[in-house]
Amino acid sequence: MVSGACFAEFGHRVVCVDSDHEKIERLNRGEVPIFEPGLKTLLHTNTEAGRLSFSENIASNIADSEIVLIAVGTPSRRGDGHADLSFVYEAAEHIAAEIKGYTVIVTKSTVPVGTAAKLDEIFAARLSPDEYDIASNPEFLREGSAIEDFMRPNRVIIGTDSERARGALRELYKPLYLSKTSILFASWETAELIKYASNAFLATKISFINEMADLCEKVGADVQTVAAGMGLDKRIGSKFLHAGPGYGGSCFPKDTLALLRTAESEGVELNIIDSVVRVNDARKRAMAGRIIEACGGSVEGKTIAVLGLTFKPNTDDMRESPSLVIIPALVENGAKIRAFDPAGMEEAAKLLKDLTFCKESYETLEGADALVLLTEWNEFRAFDFKRAASLMRTPVLIDLRNVYGADEVAGFGFKYFGVGCQGPS
Ligand code: UGA
Repeated sequence: MVSGACFAEFGHRVVCVDSDHEKIERLNRGEVPIFEPGLKTLLHTNTEAGRLSFSENIASNIADSEIVLIAVGTPSRRGDGHADLSFVYEAAEHIAAEIKGYTVIVTKSTVPVGTAAKLDEIFAARLSPDEYDIASNPEFLREGSAIEDFMRPNRVIIGTDSERARGALRELYKPLYLSKTSILFASWETAELIKYASNAFLATKISFINEMADLCEKVGADVQTVAAGMGLDKRIGSKFLHAGPGYGGSCFPKDTLALLRTAESEGVELNIIDSVVRVNDARKRAMAGRIIEACGGSVEGKTIAVLGLTFKPNTDDMRESPSLVIIPALVENGAKIRAFDPAGMEEAAKLLKDLTFCKESYETLEGADALVLLTEWNEFRAFDFKRAASLMRTPVLIDLRNVYGADEVAGFGFKYFGVGCQGPS
């Protein structure tokens, strides 16, 4: 949806097609089914301008299109962690049946190495080589800042050896091309792997700093300053070195697993990524233990206030969120949970049981024995700790995102537990 809206904003005529009747109906009514800052305005402007529309009808929209982007989900296949490509192949079959005249078929979905080649087989079975080309054009958008990432990307990767397809995609991305965005042309396989290697590398940075955080706690160091000191080295860079409760979301967990499965199938060992995944899984589990410890060794019968449930701020996405591991573990240990999230409550209510959902942050704190800051939404960044202390039974702050510091909250009587820093003396 973000790509569709942004291509329309570039001036192209875009039709977004989905088989989900309700989703298309809502979009046609001007409703946006996901929380993504700026998306509603962008959809509105471009539908009003007649450049963007939504349809359930794949047949009537393929024939007129010069470029068709496949942007369906590629979730983890239940049981084995391979990327489930059934939606991609289903879309490809539909598209292949409707093509009239030369069309470039582009995979935007995150797909394992070798998918473009398989798509080529599907199209070759129905069409002659001059009627189509396949290209891989992986997406690097982050949820919560997807529009900014699309409009000002670090790079655009275009994987195809066909000069004709390269020309068509160069046109598609022309506004970025003119603004000197790096556009890298590669083969299918290379483009497909760039996507997985990038996500796996970012996940590696996070697991790395999370392990450093554990060491910092033992040796009296401060992980935020360690990260800042490392980040000043331009070869390392400061981004994605924030220690926390482990990465979540619809991408890193699924893509690291899928990459491991691909490598396994090829007989290649990816030991680093294997460790990254294990460190992250263990970390989410360990966070519940950390909260229990901060509560004096037991949460039995205690009330814990949790602020932030989504896997990161500015999204309503709960997929693989650390909260889905931490909260059930606390409930299992006898805690009563009061929780609030600015956008994720509806999704959270489907996935989390046995807790009280509150309407806003301060209500969450009423009678709480500890406050856990789980997702760093902006509205949690300027907290009124005087008010918070007056609402809570015991002022304990477990800040799993290092938004605050012990000094900032000590004046209000709070015992502070951060990540990778020293606990209260
Ligand atoms: C990620 C990539 O950043 C995008 O480039 C990519 O396009 C996208 O996956 C995808 O494959 O579609 P996203 O999952 O939206 O984007 O979110 P991130 O900002 O990468 O955060 C992922 C997780 O890592 C979050 O749980 C976040 O809290 C955590 N994180 C991130 C940290 O714990 N520390 C950091 O320093 C950065």
